[in-house]
Amino acid sequence: MKPDLRVNFAGIELKNPVLSASGTFGYGYELSDLISLGRLGGIVTKTITLEPRHGNPQPRIAETASGVLNTIGLQNIGVKAFVEEPLEKLHKTGAPVIVSVAGASVNEYVGAVKILNAQKGISGIELNLSCPNLKKKIICHDLPLMSGIIKSVKKISKVPVIAKLSPLVTDIAELSLVAQKSGADGVTLANTYPAMAIDVKTFKPKLSTVKGGLSGECVKPMSVRCVYDAYSVLRIPILGCGGIMNGEDAVEFMLAGASAVSVGTASLISPKNIIKVIDGIENILKEKKIKTAKEIIGSLKGGLRSRRE
Ligand SMILES: Cc1cc2nc3c(=O)[nH]c(=O)nc-3n(C[C@H](O)[C@H](O)[C@H](O)COP(=O)(O)O)c2cc1C
Repeated sequence: MKPDLRVNFAGIELKNPVLSASGTFGYGYELSDLISLGRLGGIVTKTITLEPRHGNPQPRIAETASGVLNTIGLQNIGVKAFVEEPLEKLHKTGAPVIVSVAGASVNEYVGAVKILNAQKGISGIELNLSCPNLKKKIICHDLPLMSGIIKSVKKISKVPVIAKLSPLVTDIAELSLVAQKSGADGVTLANTYPAMAIDVKTFKPKLSTVKGGLSGECVKPMSVRCVYDAYSVLRIPILGCGGIMNGEDAVEFMLAGASAVSVGTASLISPKNIIKVIDGIENILKEKKIKTAKEIIGSLKGGLRSRRE
């Protein structure tokens, strides 16, 4: 029998637990000639801001051992242009759309969400509170600011609000709890890891901004640990993210406590990888004769944790 892959994430019904990760899948519709986007559990768009942004100067991408460093710097067309064209096209994909939003202040987040509120067919908002590639400090390192953004957006949003957090903190469980207390309906764990690389031929940094965000296979164990730590304390669900390349990786995140996962760098290697992740989860459940994807969420055996209710 085919396992039932459906999960509910933060009140959003997903046909399977696999979403595209923000910024690695364009606005979300561009890949429709290459893969059947309707098969995805959901699409998290590239981060959108109130005003258009050029992003950071080149070079913005550098490969590392088992990973990628990026400093895109939130290049995007701005929310008004986004709702005119990409959003229209996204509706046609048949996948639930979660719009990723960022800004430099509470007002910028709220302004963007007000415009999105007037649109149909948006299933959720992911607040990018963790971009490591901007001149200012990472938003979730400023707890009052992060909390103010979540509270203000939650007050006006018509759809569930998910807080995407940085793994670069002393205690990810504590940070996730602050997001929960501020009203988030879910958290995404985690964004990229601030990192850098130097070209020893030129003695120059490999990225224009010197430092960037590290993603891909090399970050997976650290992001699984983030999910594990946060799951022990949270009531709200977790979207696991970081280095997911196949079904086994996705199942690992779910066993640690993720209700769903998002796939980033793997889609840069091949957009078809995200479909392999969905099929891979299904095969593992079949092999183990597990009937539903939701029963594996947090079902790690032998983990030394007591889940606080
Ligand atoms: C090229 C690139 C661009 C990204 N842009 C965004 C973005 O705009 N917003 C965001 O929240 N995360 C962004 N991310 C982070 C990913 O969504 C994801 O959290 C991170 O890459 C870890 O997952 P992965 O190892 O599967 O890539 C970006 C990552 C990459 C590699």
